[in-house]
Amino acid sequence: MRTISIAIDGPAGAGKSTIAKIVAKRININYLDTGAMYRAVALKALEMGLDCKDPEQIIPMLSSTNLSVSYERERQLVYVDGKDVTDLIRSPQVSIAASDIAVIPEVRMKLVEIQRELAQRYSLVVDGRDIGTYVLPNADKKFYLTATIDERARRRWLELIDRGYTLDINEIKKDLEKRDMNDMNRSFAPLRKAEDAILIDTTDKTIEEVVDEVCSHLSDIFA
Ligand code: DC
Repeated sequence: MRTISIAIDGPAGAGKSTIAKIVAKRININYLDTGAMYRAVALKALEMGLDCKDPEQIIPMLSSTNLSVSYERERQLVYVDGKDVTDLIRSPQVSIAASDIAVIPEVRMKLVEIQRELAQRYSLVVDGRDIGTYVLPNADKKFYLTATIDERARRRWLELIDRGYTLDINEIKKDLEKRDMNDMNRSFAPLRKAEDAILIDTTDKTIEEVVDEVCSHLSDIFA
């Protein structure tokens, strides 16, 4: 059976995961958060005391790392070496470490292989940085979500408060800028809009407006 893939790329805080989750539910397919996979590998490296920027430390760890994704009541769970790390990977430290580790081509190749296998087996809304450009260049529909840096920082700040972290919004803005730099300037599969992706600036839009806009482009897939 042919599976459907919808790619949603863009920088941190643009609203990708919120929108991807709702769209997936609306059209009754699964949602794959690829950032969670980079975060999970970064968490393991941090726990082992490794430097996420050093390929010589990270590559040996990769071959002995078993990463898997499963779904429980529509929620994506991420396991590293059999341990559920879903709730441990959201800290600001892991965000930066994930962006650093994602520069290493060997890390990307391992995770991209898993992502492509999942997309072959299941219809998915996939959120990430390189989904439309590299992971699934033949995705049925591609979107690139963006928003101003101030709005993205404000959203991340609210999200982190919700998770129990109190941080200065300017620190969050600096972290986002650092991640944008990392994600957009790495040589292997950097963050950029695919030529055939639909650009949506979410800055002044409500969640419902963005979801409706995305869904309005999907009707031909199901025709
Ligand atoms: O989407 P996120 O904030 O959870 O992603 C964390 C980091 O993982 C992000 O800064 C860059 C990296 N990432 C990536 O390089 N490619 C992806 N497809 C998804 C995430």
